[in-house]
Amino acid sequence: MRITRRERFSAAHRLFRSDWDDEKNLEVFGKCSNPRWHGHNYVLYVTVEGSVNVDTGFVMNLKSLSHIIKERVIEKLDHKNINLEVDFMKDRLASTENLAIGIWEEIEGPIAEQGVRLHCVRLIETENNFVEYFGPQRDADL
Ligand code: NI
Repeated sequence: MRITRRERFSAAHRLFRSDWDDEKNLEVFGKCSNPRWHGHNYVLYVTVEGSVNVDTGFVMNLKSLSHIIKERVIEKLDHKNINLEVDFMKDRLASTENLAIGIWEEIEGPIAEQGVRLHCVRLIETENNFVEYFGPQRDADL
C-alpha cells in the first residue's frame, strides 16, 4: 500500500554554472538563468510504501509524515534562495531534478525509522513541469 502527503513551498533559484559565461548559461538554461533570480511555487508529493498496521489502520501516520517533511525540507526551503541558503543543495545545480534528489536524501532516513519505505518524491515546479524520483537504486538501473 502506498500513501502520499502533499506539502507546498515557495523558493527562488537560478540555473547556471559559474564555469560558463552568461551567453552559454542563457543558451542552455534560458530564462531560468536570469542573474537576478526568479521563484516558483513548488508542490511536493511524498509517497511512502508499507503494509497497513492492524492496530491503527494506517500505513504511516500522515501527521508524522507531514512533520518529517516540514522539519527536514519545508523549513529549509520555504521563502529561501535555493542556490544560496539551502544546506542540502550546496554545490548542486538548483534544477528540479537535483532538488528532488536532495529532498529524497533529507527524508529517506527519518521515514525508514517509521517502519515504511520512501517510494517517490514528486516535485512540481510549474503547471507544466514536474519530476518524479524513485531513489538512487532505480536510477542506477536506468
Ligand atoms: Ni526556475
